[in-house]
Amino acid sequence: MGTHWTARREGFRDPSPWVQRWSASVLPQAPVLDLACGSGRHGRLFLDRGHPVTFVDKDISGVADLADQAELIEVDLETGGPWPLGTRRFAAVVVTCYLHRPILEHIVAAVAPGGLLIYETFARGNEACGHPARPEYLLEEGELLEAVRGRLTVLGYEHGYDDEPKPGVRQRIAAQRSQP
Ligand SMILES: C[S@@+](CC[C@H](N)C(=O)[O-])C[C@H]1O[C@@H](n2cnc3c(N)ncnc32)[C@H](O)[C@@H]1O
Repeated sequence: MGTHWTARREGFRDPSPWVQRWSASVLPQAPVLDLACGSGRHGRLFLDRGHPVTFVDKDISGVADLADQAELIEVDLETGGPWPLGTRRFAAVVVTCYLHRPILEHIVAAVAPGGLLIYETFARGNEACGHPARPEYLLEEGELLEAVRGRLTVLGYEHGYDDEPKPGVRQRIAAQRSQP
């Protein structure tokens, strides 16, 4: 039983069904990036399956228990400084409940050939449900489709209201970079 399993039992939330669904399509054993990871609920899912995982957050304490099993990078992604992952590429780039538009381009570029972008966050309309409500944190209709257009092939896309895990309007995409 890994320490990450124990940590989850102690109160971390479950992975998003969207990430769980598309995680099955990620190349086995290949590297995964959990960006703005928080408690690392998604990276933990991939660690459990034997993927090397890189966790990035401005506060990495939520995954401190994984220091001996994963790469942890504590960095503020919103300073306008260089993209902290350079030219590294990942078989899955997972982003959930986080949006900072200036780095969207880097996020898409970080997907390796054959790899997947799995992205899910709040969208316009969520204002009526609570937080986040500010436009800078809410995706516009079709915005993730636009972000990957001409770069990745869309495998799945949704935008709409969900009751779970809490009432909100969300947009989600799974998109793949073609093999060279
Ligand atoms: C709502 S939480 C989502 C965590 C995780 N992705 C999930 O869905 O469980 C947003 C995360 O973004 C991180 N974050 C916010 N601003 C950031 C920044 N400027 N640089 C890096 N991480 C940031 C927060 O620390 C937090 O862990």
